Amino acid sequence: MAVALVLAAGLGERLGLGRPKALAELAGRPLWRWSVEVLSDMDEIDRVVVALPPGIEAPAGIVGVLGGAARSESVQRALAAAGDGEDREAVLVHDAARPLLTVEITRATLLAFDGGAVDAAIAASPVIDTIKQADEGGRVLRTLERSGLWAVQTPQVFRRDALRRALDVPAKVLVEATDDAWLVERTGGTVAIVPSPRENLKVTTPFDLQVAELLLAHRQSVASDLPASA
Ligand code: CTP
Ligand code: MG
Repeated sequence: MAVALVLAAGLGERLGLGRPKALAELAGRPLWRWSVEVLSDMDEIDRVVVALPPGIEAPAGIVGVLGGAARSESVQRALAAAGDGEDREAVLVHDAARPLLTVEITRATLLAFDGGAVDAAIAASPVIDTIKQADEGGRVLRTLERSGLWAVQTPQVFRRDALRRALDVPAKVLVEATDDAWLVERTGGTVAIVPSPRENLKVTTPFDLQVAELLLAHRQSVASDLPASA
C-alpha cells in the first residue's frame, strides 16, 4: 500500500489569477480536486495528504495540511502529516498543478517502484523538441543529444526512508530542487523513469489552463458517452 502526498499550496504567480493556482476553476471544479479524486479512488493508495493554501479545507477522508513557503517545505509538512510507516513504504508525491493525472500513469509508476527495488520511480515523457544550450547573449553553444532526454513529471514514488533522507538537507539545497527525485539522485540513489504521456501536463501559465480545460472537458464527454457499468 502507498501513501500519496499532493502539493497544492503554491501561489500560482505565473498563472496570475491573484489567488492560489489550486483554486483555479477547471472544467467545473477547483484544479486541485482533479488529481486528489483520482488518487483517493485507487485501491493501491490508503491515505491521501494534501498541502493546501491557507483557509482551504480538505474534503472528508483526505488529510489537509497547511503548505510551506517553498515546494519542498510543503512536501516535508505533508510527509509529517502522513504519520509513521515502514522504511520501504511507497510514498507518492504529486503536483496538484498536473490535474490530468490518470489511474494508468499512477499505477505504472507504482509498478516501476516495485515494492522498493529502486529508491524512486518517476513519470516522464520523452523530449520531442530539439534542445540547444545558449549563452546569455542568445548564441547557441551546443545542441544536446535528444535521445535519452526526458521531461520529468509527477507522480514520483519514493521509498519513505529515501524521501525522508533526501529532504533532510540544508534549506539552500532544498530551494534549488525543482523535483524531489533530484534530491535522491544527488546522494547516489537509484531513480527509474516511467514513460508517461505529455497529456499529463503542468498548469503553469494561462495557456496551460486553457489546454487542460479542453482536455478535461473532452475526457468528461467521452466518459458520459460510455454505457453505465453494471
Ligand atoms: N507548491 C506547494 N507549495 C509551495 C510551492 C509549490 O505545494 N510552497 C506546489 C504547487 O501548488 C504546485 C506544485 O508545487 O502544485 C508545483 O509548483 P508550481 O507549478 O511552481 O506552482 P506554483 O508555485 O503555485 O506556481 P508559481 O511558481 O507560478 O508561483
Ligand atoms: Mg512555483
